Amino acid sequence: MSTFNAPRGTYDLLPPDSATYLAVREAMAAPLRRSGYGYVETPGFESVELFARGVGESTDIVTKEMYTLTTRGGDELALRPEGTASVLRAALEANLHRGGNLPVKLWYSGSYYRYERPQKGRYRHFSQVGAEAIGAEDPTLDAELIVLAYDAYRSLGLSGFRLLLNSLGDRTCRPGYRSVLQEFLRGLDLDEQTRARIEINPLRVLDDKRESVQRQLAGAPMMRDHLCEECKAFHEEVRALLTDAGVPFEDDPRLVRGLDYYTRTTFEFVHDGLGSQSAIGGGGRYDGLAEMIGGPQLPSVGWALGVDRTVLALEAEGVDLALPAVTEVYAVPLGEEARRRLFHLVTELRREGVAADLAYGGKGMKNAMKSANRSGARFALLLGERDLAEGVVQLKDLASGEQTALELAAAVAGVRDKLR
Ligand code: HAM
Repeated sequence: MSTFNAPRGTYDLLPPDSATYLAVREAMAAPLRRSGYGYVETPGFESVELFARGVGESTDIVTKEMYTLTTRGGDELALRPEGTASVLRAALEANLHRGGNLPVKLWYSGSYYRYERPQKGRYRHFSQVGAEAIGAEDPTLDAELIVLAYDAYRSLGLSGFRLLLNSLGDRTCRPGYRSVLQEFLRGLDLDEQTRARIEINPLRVLDDKRESVQRQLAGAPMMRDHLCEECKAFHEEVRALLTDAGVPFEDDPRLVRGLDYYTRTTFEFVHDGLGSQSAIGGGGRYDGLAEMIGGPQLPSVGWALGVDRTVLALEAEGVDLALPAVTEVYAVPLGEEARRRLFHLVTELRREGVAADLAYGGKGMKNAMKSANRSGARFALLLGERDLAEGVVQLKDLASGEQTALELAAAVAGVRDKLR
């Protein structure tokens, strides 16, 4: 123990569990790398105004959940609560959209911060892997991203998840729907806060989880019945492409998402083994966001997958990832000269790509062998005075106990042979 603990709503990633997180990030990124997405990294903090305008003044994220700070120089900054606004800001700032080579396809991986009420699956510091395809109004892109997310989850061995799909319309059809919805909602028996929400962001009321509210929403008008012809055709095409790619989905006319920038396609991956924090990833199209943050019109689409919740989903399904061995060979020196020789050998093995470790701190044989077993290595390399005199090193199979003497001078090749 120390005097300090990790802040509330956060946790540390430690070995061996941390290896699972790395593998999950890698599995999420792999399909993107194969699909023309380039890696982007942006700062952990941005101007508060970027998120206020981008994510939306009335969203929970902006009104309640941002970690904001004023710098000594007087700048108002926020730890990033999500990645889309930052990535779009970066792409616009670097004029990536100017070369005529649209869409600009980017992926990212990092930490995000939201001051939420902590519970299982909901943290104040969490990790996402995200992807954004900027500057093309093409349903094939929406389908591509959804397929890539689906394939990432499947490649991890997950099966207990569902894809929820909806369209939120665009600037042609959404305003009309919004009015119709507001009219309906104003007639309901709702608390003051929810009534206020009707005027600012009526779609979010559909997302209210309370039973008393949901009951009244039974006959609410749905966006899908108010889509304009273009939005309808676009959505049908996304659905057809997903079906063709073998990606099952459920139409969810109530899916609105918690960020204001969405237009047309919205989707969420939910896992049924996670309880209330069931969304393991989500995203959608955001055709108006570039303009909202001062750029040109750049229709775009993207998603972010939650690393923390995906790890929980793996646990819930009892999936054990086949992780590469941390250590393949563990060297146990007995004496000073042996330590030097084995350090040399371990260095050579590492340079040859073998995961090798050494017993440090002058441990005795018994303790060193305990460490060797704990390391998960397949082999121990033992070197004592007699071995040195004979110019050999003992390679011990830690599972069977079988021991072979390798010529010290040719030990690297000998170990590699055995590992093969
Ligand atoms: P989001 O739905 O807010 O979307 O977050 C995406 C995923 O991040 C969620 O499905 C969830 O798995 C994870 N997540 C969010 N908040 C937390 C939390 N407090 N604790 C643990 N995990 C969390 C976005 O962030 C959008 N930027 C996605 C996007 C990209 N849309 C278009 N492009």
